[in-house]
Amino acid sequence: MNVGFVGLGKLGLPVALAIEAAGHTVCGYDKNELVRDYLRYGQIPFKEEGLQPLLDTHKVKWAPTIREVVRSSEIIFVPVQTPHDPQFEGATRIPAERADFDYSYLTQAVGEIGAEAKAMGKSVMVVVISTCLPGTYRAKIRPLLNEFVQYVYNPFFIAMGTVLADFTNPEFVLIGQEGSSKGVPWKLRDLYHSIHDKPLFVTDITTAEGIKVFYNTFITMKTVLANTYGEMSEKLGMNVDDIFAALSLATDRIISPKYLKAGMGDGGGCHPRDNIALSYIAERVGLSHNIFEDLMAAREDHAEWLADLVLQQQSSLPVIMLGRAFKPETNIETGSPAVLVANILREKGVDVHHVEDANTEQRAIWFIGTQHSRYQSMRFKEGSIVIDPFGYISDQTGVRVIRIGRP
Ligand SMILES: NC(=O)c1ccc[n+]([C@@H]2O[C@H](COP(=O)([O-])OP(=O)(O)OC[C@H]3O[C@@H](n4cnc5c(N)ncnc54)[C@H](O)[C@@H]3O)[C@@H](O)[C@H]2O)c1
Repeated sequence: MNVGFVGLGKLGLPVALAIEAAGHTVCGYDKNELVRDYLRYGQIPFKEEGLQPLLDTHKVKWAPTIREVVRSSEIIFVPVQTPHDPQFEGATRIPAERADFDYSYLTQAVGEIGAEAKAMGKSVMVVVISTCLPGTYRAKIRPLLNEFVQYVYNPFFIAMGTVLADFTNPEFVLIGQEGSSKGVPWKLRDLYHSIHDKPLFVTDITTAEGIKVFYNTFITMKTVLANTYGEMSEKLGMNVDDIFAALSLATDRIISPKYLKAGMGDGGGCHPRDNIALSYIAERVGLSHNIFEDLMAAREDHAEWLADLVLQQQSSLPVIMLGRAFKPETNIETGSPAVLVANILREKGVDVHHVEDANTEQRAIWFIGTQHSRYQSMRFKEGSIVIDPFGYISDQTGVRVIRIGRP
């Protein structure tokens, strides 16, 4: 396959070499003329494990312009920088203000590729690798595209220093594309199949933009928790390595996909109670940051947001919450997030009727508080609104079903 690169930096160059090593014809352009010498002399100023043998033998063609890349390629990868001000790098205290990444390099590159493709009347697939926050494509990229560009967002989960190994042996490949199709664009599928047999996960572009950065924040969350347990261990005479050795054995509930499902808050007789108790002990020992307090505050703020969602319906319909239990298929209400939402609704002046079962003959705002399986087969009266935090109630004629976070 003829593969092009616009941007041959710390990510682009090793990936271009890896794709060439898999048997493809690769050409690349970079604004930075020095890159031409890196290719010519087989020397780069940054360290990348395993790259030198590829640099010594490569045949990557240097393209003097973006036009040349468009002319020679069916697929064009775009790994240009999306930088942030150094004050947001995390090596200094967090500044008071916040900002998005700088997308000027990306919009310039994609805009120019689109214009060249149109001028040549040639269709190309543009595969952007650069990190973007969710919403970037819709706001800044889509307006630049034309009918000659098939845009794909394909961010990598790669670390500097091990780009080659991470690219050729990834956990999975993430592909964001326009439209509802879950099929991988065949050119990209063939390209990846020539390199590895790892899963190709397809979603829409905005969700892919989110997955890329949420992957990273997930890791940050794990390390923050690990260090919190370390500090608690220091202050309370525990052994943090034993804590993680034990928790790592919990491969069903903790080191697993369990609980990775958006819905209602964590509940029951143990979890909220333990966090609240730990927030007390954290205060007592002077923990540097009381994350246990934060966890419970985030749970409560989310419950309040759900209550506000009911109010936002601006409807005179009665509000009925279905499900009082803290989890499906039980009737235990201890620590129930559904009861918390109902309490907050009452605090806000809503006369919520909170039940485990009800006759759905009446028109109402139905809030599903517990994911009992029996609610799934309920038919709601036309004109009703159903708020479903779990995303398991299907569409029904004349009923507005709000499956939270599932467009
Ligand atoms: N480096 C990594 O390991 C890594 C890992 C994951 C994600 N990313 C993301 O990938 C993107 C690129 O990262 P990087 O580290 O390779 O950046 P980089 O600064 O090393 O490389 C970007 C390259 O693009 C070139 N460029 C910019 N605009 C151009 C244009 N219009 N035409 C041609 N060339 C152009 C630059 O000259 C530069 O050589 C970033 O969004 C980054 O967040 C990088």
